Amino acid sequence: MSNLYFFLDTSSKTINMTDPMTPNTTLLIFSTIVLTGIGTTLFSYFMKKRGKKRISINSLKGWKDGGQVSKLFIYPVKSCKGCEVESFNCSGLGPIKGNTRDRVFMFVDGDNNFITARRFPRLTQIIPKVSEGYLNLQAPDMDDIHIKIPFNVKGNTNVRVWGETISAVDCKIASDWISKYLSPILDVKEPIKLVYFSGNTTARTVKEREIWPHMYREDGTAFADLAPFLLINSNSVKNLTDRIKSPSVVTYENFRPNILIGGASAFVEDNWSFLKIGEVIFRQTKPCDRCVLTTVDPRKGEKYPDGEPLKTLREYRCATDPKIKASSGSSPFMGINLAVEKEGVINVGDPVQFVTLQ
Ligand SMILES: *[C@@H]1O[C@H](CO)[C@@H](O)[C@H](O)[C@H]1NC(C)=O
Ligand SMILES: *[C@@H]1O[C@H](CO)[C@@H](O)[C@H](O)[C@H]1NC(C)=O
Ligand SMILES: *[C@@H]1O[C@H](CO)[C@@H](O)[C@H](O)[C@H]1NC(C)=O
Ligand SMILES: *[C@@H]1O[C@H](CO)[C@@H](O)[C@H](O)[C@H]1NC(C)=O
Repeated sequence: MSNLYFFLDTSSKTINMTDPMTPNTTLLIFSTIVLTGIGTTLFSYFMKKRGKKRISINSLKGWKDGGQVSKLFIYPVKSCKGCEVESFNCSGLGPIKGNTRDRVFMFVDGDNNFITARRFPRLTQIIPKVSEGYLNLQAPDMDDIHIKIPFNVKGNTNVRVWGETISAVDCKIASDWISKYLSPILDVKEPIKLVYFSGNTTARTVKEREIWPHMYREDGTAFADLAPFLLINSNSVKNLTDRIKSPSVVTYENFRPNILIGGASAFVEDNWSFLKIGEVIFRQTKPCDRCVLTTVDPRKGEKYPDGEPLKTLREYRCATDPKIKASSGSSPFMGINLAVEKEGVINVGDPVQFVTLQ
């Protein structure tokens, strides 16, 4: 404000500062508003332009072969088991098959904050299944529970995922069931609730980062951590498991892919900027940095005693670029996060093609 005042002052010799409403002051205020307006508009234009250095998918050339789809999974409930399917529809929010959508249910604590298998590894033993209009949950030593999915019900509670607030529907009926299942290890504020994301568009946005030029603000999800899709290459997993010396059984399941591919060499997916599978075009938003969730044995719902597979992955898959390292720290990379550029259906067996941008 003071800089602007001095700038404007060159054209108006005397400004009576004791009287706020002299014509000169009015002019000053008016000019300030106009200039601020122009400045803000230009600033946001350049920011948008910078943020939107976007590649048109029609300009992509030189598609190369990158193996084929070997398995597809949708995880209706965050941190619970996935549903394996033969095909799914790729939407901006993630995979959809009929009424089965990815990460549209999750558990929250008494403060409405999300809870995951990082803290409650047993969550991975819950088997969700969507059939007709119901979500059915099955878990060891528990009676099954059938929850009517509140389609088109407006959110009635605000919940938090990674600090972001999002509106959701409280599936009240599931509260006792999940509290009982987690009770031997419960150390959070009760009651635990199951919540549902009923919308088709999300209010969650992604923070654009200079280090990930192809990750956009609008790549937000329902309850997934960061991206609508995760692709894992089986040969990258094999490269890792060949190195793990302990008897811990690690498979692709530890990495919770939506799309598992075969027929491509280990870690080539790192460099795939755009992917074409069936009629769908994906954009890689960033490589996926991995957390302790991978150290939960999906077969037992307990953490491995030896910290695998993270321990071995850290030995050779951490960032080397100092800028990326500053963000990912000691989290190693496995798999790539994808957003959809062109929606459609993909199937097991579909060939994968890719383009690498420099
Ligand atoms: C996939 O989603 C699109 C957009 O919502 C829809 O038009 C199409 O019918 C869906 N296809 C299948 C097979 O579900
Ligand atoms: C979301 O999309 C589905 C399928 O297109 C539709 O049936 C449903 O009404 C939509 N829900 C909302 C909240 O718009
Ligand atoms: C495993 O990956 C590393 C790092 O990319 C590579 O140097 C090595 O050749 C791979 N090994 C196999 C057997 O693919
Ligand atoms: C990915 O691209 C970088 C830079 O061009 C290159 O150094 C690296 O070897 C590539 N990695 C793979 C697995 O192709």
